[in-house]
Amino acid sequence: MLGCGKPSPAKRDGSAPRRSAVLNSDCPNRGASLVLLDLLERPDMPAREIWYDKFICPDCHEGIHLDVPEVARELGMNPVYTVGTNVWKGRYMSNHPWWQYDEMQQIGKDYGNVAEVEVYDSRHSKLRNVQQESQFILDSLAVRKEQVILDFGAGTGTFAIEAAKRCSKVYAVDVSRVMLEYAKKKADSRRVGNIVFRHGGFLTYDHLNDSVDIIVTSLALHHLPDFWKFTALSRMNTMLKDQGRLFLMDVVFSEENHVENITKWIAGIERSAGPERAKEVGMHIQKEYSTFTWIMEGLLTRTGFRIDQADYQGGVIARYLCTKINA
Ligand SMILES: C[S@@+](CC[C@H](N)C(=O)[O-])C[C@H]1O[C@@H](n2cnc3c(N)ncnc32)[C@H](O)[C@@H]1O
Repeated sequence: MLGCGKPSPAKRDGSAPRRSAVLNSDCPNRGASLVLLDLLERPDMPAREIWYDKFICPDCHEGIHLDVPEVARELGMNPVYTVGTNVWKGRYMSNHPWWQYDEMQQIGKDYGNVAEVEVYDSRHSKLRNVQQESQFILDSLAVRKEQVILDFGAGTGTFAIEAAKRCSKVYAVDVSRVMLEYAKKKADSRRVGNIVFRHGGFLTYDHLNDSVDIIVTSLALHHLPDFWKFTALSRMNTMLKDQGRLFLMDVVFSEENHVENITKWIAGIERSAGPERAKEVGMHIQKEYSTFTWIMEGLLTRTGFRIDQADYQGGVIARYLCTKINA
């Protein structure tokens, strides 16, 4: 160990790390595992490009500089850093195979685009009542004050904000930094402070804190092809406590009359929200990875979930309330 200091995103320049700074004593997550700075910023960074020296607290972004010996890196050992009686553990985030699906690329709608994100809430208000949906999800899960919720594909943060009012902490995860920034501003303006925003996705986000009581994901899983939905659901299963709950809502097609259902859906949206929105729905079907209900049910049960309730609307929207049943 060489010393400590607040890391900068810049690459190591050979200068000695500062020795004066200590990790932020006000951090609500004090004592949590630190993660490699490079991987926090780019979870998909190839192993050979990572600098194995700067670790950071995922909450307050205070960090330390650890000179991890070559041998420890190879053995995958986690370095330990001690300040007085506080022991901080550095942890390498999981390495992914080079052939892993690149979930940071935007398929279909570009949620990395500022203009797109800024109109998201007003556009969706013509198609759905997200406030009401959020309350429905929270009621279905019978959320309790002490519980912790993880929201995958949190988008502009409407659900995360409503959830945060009813539980102790929400982790809002999204692959789009623009979405996260927008959601954070929205939460700040409403003085909701118990949301932790994390950049990452179904395949790359590493939950380094205690397992959570509930995972919610709404209109996001269809961004992954079916093979990768399996990986995503398996990873979610490991992030949940035993008997933890999953609420999954997405565009999922019932097999029977699927062409008619889709045609009816698009026509309905054209009537209620206009031709532009209707075209977007068509583009969703053309370019994104919504699947059939029987595939989604199979994916859920094979990744360790029991489906407690499945609710299909118009043969195009599915809502699943599930319980983690494997250890
Ligand atoms: C249609 S929006 C849904 C937002 C919000 N959950 C809602 O119900 O309004 C889809 C969101 O999923 C995010 N997303 C796309 N691919 C993702 C992935 N692989 N992991 C996590 N989030 C992803 C997008 O950036 C976007 O914010």
